[in-house]
Amino acid sequence: MAYEMAWLHYHKISEKDFLKFLTAIHVEYEDSIIQSAAEEITSAVRDMFGIYLPYEKGESREGILLKLSKKDELGKEGYHIYPSGKAFVIEANSSSGILYGAFQMIRLLQCGYRAENMEEIKVPDNPLRMINHWDNMDGSIERGYSGKSFFFQDNEIIVDKRIKDYARLAASVGINGVVLNNVNVKNHATELISKKYFKQLKEIQRIFASYGIKLYLSLNFATPIELGNLNSADPLSTEVKNWWKDKLNEVYQELPGFGGFLIKADSEGRPGPFTYGRTHADGANMLAETIEPYGGIIIWRCFVYNCEQDWRDKKTDRARAGYDHFKPLDGTFAGNVILQIKNGPMDFQVREPVSPLFGGMKQTNQMLEVQIAQEYTGQQRHVCYLIPMFKEVLNFRTYCENNRDKVSDIVSGKTYGWTNCGMAAVANTGDDDNWFGHDLAAANFYGFGRLSFDTGLSSEKIAGEWIAMTFGTHPKVQKNIRDILMISWPAYENYTSPLGIGWMVNPHSHYGPNVDGYEYDRWGTYHRADHFGLGVDRSTKGTGYAAQYHNPNALNYETVENCPEELLLFFHYVKYTHRLTNGKTLIQHIYDAHFEGVEEVEVMLKMWIELIDYIEDSVYQRVLKRLEYQLEHSKEWRDIICSYFYRKSAIPDDKNREIF
Ligand code: GCU
Repeated sequence: MAYEMAWLHYHKISEKDFLKFLTAIHVEYEDSIIQSAAEEITSAVRDMFGIYLPYEKGESREGILLKLSKKDELGKEGYHIYPSGKAFVIEANSSSGILYGAFQMIRLLQCGYRAENMEEIKVPDNPLRMINHWDNMDGSIERGYSGKSFFFQDNEIIVDKRIKDYARLAASVGINGVVLNNVNVKNHATELISKKYFKQLKEIQRIFASYGIKLYLSLNFATPIELGNLNSADPLSTEVKNWWKDKLNEVYQELPGFGGFLIKADSEGRPGPFTYGRTHADGANMLAETIEPYGGIIIWRCFVYNCEQDWRDKKTDRARAGYDHFKPLDGTFAGNVILQIKNGPMDFQVREPVSPLFGGMKQTNQMLEVQIAQEYTGQQRHVCYLIPMFKEVLNFRTYCENNRDKVSDIVSGKTYGWTNCGMAAVANTGDDDNWFGHDLAAANFYGFGRLSFDTGLSSEKIAGEWIAMTFGTHPKVQKNIRDILMISWPAYENYTSPLGIGWMVNPHSHYGPNVDGYEYDRWGTYHRADHFGLGVDRSTKGTGYAAQYHNPNALNYETVENCPEELLLFFHYVKYTHRLTNGKTLIQHIYDAHFEGVEEVEVMLKMWIELIDYIEDSVYQRVLKRLEYQLEHSKEWRDIICSYFYRKSAIPDDKNREIF
């Protein structure tokens, strides 16, 4: 096997008190998911205890029992795990629940729990917990930083052992849906829903299904034209509707149980209903109606904006676009449509406000989209543990209702009683030996899954689990790696773009500092820096974006005085001499934050070096190399940003550090 197994590579454990359960696995009912659960337990027990567990059908009072039950409190996918006499019981209402319970039992053992402390009931918070791959059929991955696709190569679908191991990694953290291909559906990918590919898709679907994962595909809205030779894809045309009817009939004949489609329409050059003068609701509902008889869903992205803006135009605001397009359509979407909304109104920057669509739309299923591929946060060459950012998003109060108004309540369906909703992450995997490019980037995949399953988990707790499973439970290993992870996002924010302004990256690659890289371009991503100050006025005097929120958020964002400081430049144009709450001027803050960010990376590197005797050498060296590189690159960021603003403002650093 050329690749490693990340957190599913188990460590031996010395815990004796679990041994009494290790006589056999007993199952009362069998299907492919229960078989997977039993297989997982068998191999984990073998690796952790060196014991081979026999597998037996039928009831028992001893051993590890996989038990289907009918208990309301366990919901559809929840589990109850507990020791009972000579048995350790994994109980759930569904096979998936049993699989999640099995992985949780393994996780607790790896984290050093004693059997008596291993009782737990957990029902997943989000109905849908999805990974969106941006894999292209030629094997490349859009915004992929860990090698090539393991799903596609040379326009063919790969079906091999790695697909199963991927499903194991995903299911182990509770993922229950995977979109296989890039949202930008072009060329061969349009043909994924044709005879050419059904056979392999069926095989992947079977493997996924045995781990409780539904298969989804990204869809090209213009498929009737490109595949069906029609001259239109107008969602209100009878001919187009009939074409889709036949197509979906064919798809479900071949792939029964198929989850549905993810669609990027009228965005960044992708086709959509606007071409025909129709709305997004027209487009989504036509597909939803057609897929409804099969139980499928349509996930429609809200990443819709004018990507041909004139940089001189200060009224058009990309941040406003999602809300402006979709809010008026609230209540008009079918029940099996979900709107998938990026966490912020722009595009996965290191700091953005939460999209006002959350809590803005009340009668439309919504799903939160985050990106664990670190497109704008170091591209898996820098460590940037994103779970604390996702926690902030989930905990954001929208003030849409009196209670249950956090983003976590909305997307989990608790606020409005939706059942089609949840969380999705743009994947950070590839065919690198360690799957994630940077060994520490695995924490983002692991963490996303765990958080979408249990939004109450803290970032530290998730980090601790992941470290225990990946590197072990030694206190020094735990402490140092947890500290590295927890420092990493604030550090990245410090040495890159200040106070919510974002971007300042090289065009296209989105990597490395380039303050004016997008400043005079068409993408709507401006910082508006001049000799006196910088920032975008999004108050009512500016673009009016702040007013898209409910109060008190809208009121707070409206003024410089009340705006949360970390978002100051997102909402306001501010002079370099403006004093922040800590008494520093804005320009001094920019200098200080950038120097601090680099110092934080120095600390991260030092903490890793202290682990030389505790981490397997090849992994130690891999991470060391990347951290050394990160330190150099953070200096590059610091020096370019500080020099730029020194030259613009002509205000020297109070501390007389070298600014070029
Ligand atoms: C970003 C990213 C694109 C991607 C797009 C999307 O703009 O750079 O590569 O296609 O997001 O989310 O659709």
